[in-house]
Amino acid sequence: MEAKKFIEEKVKEIKETVGDKRALVALSGGVDSSTTTVLAHRAIGKRLIPVFIDDGLMRAGEARRVKDIFKKLGIKVRVVIARREFFNVTTADPEVKRRKFRRTFYRMLGRIARRYKAKFLLQGTILTDIEETKRGVKTQHNVLEQMGIKPKRFGLPPVVIEPLKDLRKDEVREVARELGLPPEIYDRMPFPGPGFSTRVLGKLSPQRVNIVRKANTIVEEELAQFKPFQAFAVLMGDRATGMKKGKRHYGNIIVVRSVESTDARTATPSQIPWEALQKIQQRICTEVRSVSRVLYDLTPKEPATIEYI
Ligand code: XMP
Repeated sequence: MEAKKFIEEKVKEIKETVGDKRALVALSGGVDSSTTTVLAHRAIGKRLIPVFIDDGLMRAGEARRVKDIFKKLGIKVRVVIARREFFNVTTADPEVKRRKFRRTFYRMLGRIARRYKAKFLLQGTILTDIEETKRGVKTQHNVLEQMGIKPKRFGLPPVVIEPLKDLRKDEVREVARELGLPPEIYDRMPFPGPGFSTRVLGKLSPQRVNIVRKANTIVEEELAQFKPFQAFAVLMGDRATGMKKGKRHYGNIIVVRSVESTDARTATPSQIPWEALQKIQQRICTEVRSVSRVLYDLTPKEPATIEYI
């Protein structure tokens, strides 16, 4: 793939498909949706409506960050706050969780599309997302038509445009760089669309998401120097007996996951120096009060996958 040529072709295609209508794009601030947004903005300018859905499952400070980055690129992002809707999940079943997220997410997008009279939906689905969903590994939230799901089912515009659907992660990064996106976007670690709902095992609640979000910030801060492909925290579904200030503490368990990969199809655990791991453990147990145990995941993909759900 030659990035310049790819951009020219996709801008032309989007222009021709959308014509003089409006298109909606759900922007999470990750590299895939950011690249899709800039491509589409080049093609149709102000007729593109970029929306950031603040679902309460994103990393700390994300809405502000995304708004600011895109403002500098001359693209206005609308933030829709919808924190309650995504916590209607009582199941611990990973696939049910994923499908519930997908339904809530797309129904909301459908409502937004109607509000803005958008006739098209753009999304940053990439080849790995499609392959993993088709192979039955997991239901990636953004794979619809490839699984025979008609966008109409969620009240979405009938036409979904996916300019990145033949690219892998490393190729998307190349296109993002060529489009003039800043390194904090094209060099950023992947983050799944369903956000921390893939990193809270067991019951999903705002409190439990807060625990994993705080731990995740620490993991990202401490491991940034090693530039892993992806690093994050996961909150286990059960607790374990521990001790705080000499007293019994039946505390939460956080797993630290850090992997190396180029396209997320396979991954190996990062060889993090012991001192860095110790510092992460100390910071998490001190700064996230309910946690009394921190583990490091040694499993490659496969037999594991990168995320836990
Ligand atoms: P797994 O866990 O399948 O993840 O090894 C492979 C890559 O995909 C990301 N991921 C997702 N991205 N929607 C996304 O946009 C999803 O539903 C989703 N699930 C996993 C994951 O973070 C990793 O980079």
